[in-house]
Amino acid sequence: MSEPGEHGHSGLPPHKPVLFKEVIEALALEEGLTVVDATVGMGGHAIGIAEHLGARGTLIGLDRDASAIAAAERILAGVAPRVELRHASYADLDEVLRGLGIDSVDRVLADLGFGSHQMDDPGRGLSFRSSTSLDMRYDQTSGPTALDLLRTTPEKELGRWFREYGEERFWRRIAQAICEERKRQLLPMTGGELAELVVRAVPPSARSGRIHPATRVFQALRIATNRELEVLEAGLAAACRALRVGGRLVVISFHSLEDRLVKTFFRENLQRLTKKPVTAGPEELQSNPRSRSAKLRVAVKTADSDPPVGRQEAWR
Ligand SMILES: C[S@@+](CC[C@H](N)C(=O)[O-])C[C@H]1O[C@@H](n2cnc3c(N)ncnc32)[C@H](O)[C@@H]1O
Repeated sequence: MSEPGEHGHSGLPPHKPVLFKEVIEALALEEGLTVVDATVGMGGHAIGIAEHLGARGTLIGLDRDASAIAAAERILAGVAPRVELRHASYADLDEVLRGLGIDSVDRVLADLGFGSHQMDDPGRGLSFRSSTSLDMRYDQTSGPTALDLLRTTPEKELGRWFREYGEERFWRRIAQAICEERKRQLLPMTGGELAELVVRAVPPSARSGRIHPATRVFQALRIATNRELEVLEAGLAAACRALRVGGRLVVISFHSLEDRLVKTFFRENLQRLTKKPVTAGPEELQSNPRSRSAKLRVAVKTADSDPPVGRQEAWR
């Protein structure tokens, strides 16, 4: 099996996805399967999956980011299985499958959060070095941007996001500082300006450390902008409905809130194949800093699995 990045036909720079070997192993792929890559991104996992499915297999790739779908189209051109790529949220998996006339699938992979292609995109405002408008949306075609939310969200709610989604100690001070700047019409407009505001708002002792003092605020704002936790809950339920009995769900999460949600969902709705999450080995930890926080969990749908319906329908 070749590694992603060795495929020259896309003309794109090599891309090494997190926990590649572990994902392929966890998916237990066979020829002829129907597999959903719910977060196809730059197609790094997808190209590896495609190699196992043969001409009778089907690979369905979703992404909330239209530019990722365009890249995946180039990367997956010419692979053996049937490929269907859709610009859609995994929360809308039922609808996507209905549109394709597919009743059930054999495997679902979700590699959560943002991709390096988004972090490195200056127009996305995900990095605290960015000098363009604070957007932070995965889907830049719909919904309010992070800046819209900073302009309109009450201080109390901003504080809650920083506390709950960012696990930020100084949530109150930071929310206060943002709202003061808002009153003076000096709201941070770029990632760089927001990072500076956070640095000024936290006590001097919290300004130096291993991670940038704005890291948690950026995480919180990104989660809120994309409604990541609600969408994840809806997506897990949709994946569970879509799987045939015996089908597998493989999820990689990157922070404790996501992982807790996945762990609880697996325990309540599926049969877990990993009691403890799989994490990156020493080689990957060295070469890819993002792999440090990656946790992979695997579960199987059984005849008793009873995926939730209803509440999640409100979240897209
Ligand atoms: C970590 S990257 C995936 C990388 C991919 N596995 C690869 O090998 O290139 C996560 C991707 O998920 C997408 N995403 C985030 N939320 C989503 C959602 N609700 N539905 C579909 N895609 C989503 C992001 O736009 C991003 O491209």
